[in-house]
Amino acid sequence: MAASDRLIEAALAARGNAHAPFSNFKVGAAVEDADGRLFTGCNVENATFGLTLCAERVAVFKAVSEGARKFTRVAVAADTDSLTPPCGACRQILWEFCGDVELVLTNLHGKTETLRLKDLFPRPFDASFL
Ligand code: THU
Repeated sequence: MAASDRLIEAALAARGNAHAPFSNFKVGAAVEDADGRLFTGCNVENATFGLTLCAERVAVFKAVSEGARKFTRVAVAADTDSLTPPCGACRQILWEFCGDVELVLTNLHGKTETLRLKDLFPRPFDASFL
């Protein structure tokens, strides 16, 4: 299986674990580190709504907590015809940990689009300002 397929398959599989009883909007994400390790996440909703975590942040935080620090690619999977991009909060987190990473958006029907994070998140605020 091609490397990009492996990433997409991981994001799609993670979507199956989504805990989304309030929105019913299930999302999966996968991040790949420089060693080729994959880390996955799904959205995990909360009754208070505001404590909900998106799939992308779960995947990144899992990776960081496992010691991964350099990332090459991120995939996001959702069941939408217009491919679902990361929300603003996730763009900030992805930027801080992954930089201008390759971002693959996908849906359940095999539609994909590959972007760079910088194109979705121009002029970011980050540690370089501190
Ligand atoms: N969500 C994600 O997990 N990632 C995205 O890229 C967009 C939104 C989740 C958050 C919430 O559980 C549900 O989708 C609806 O917003």
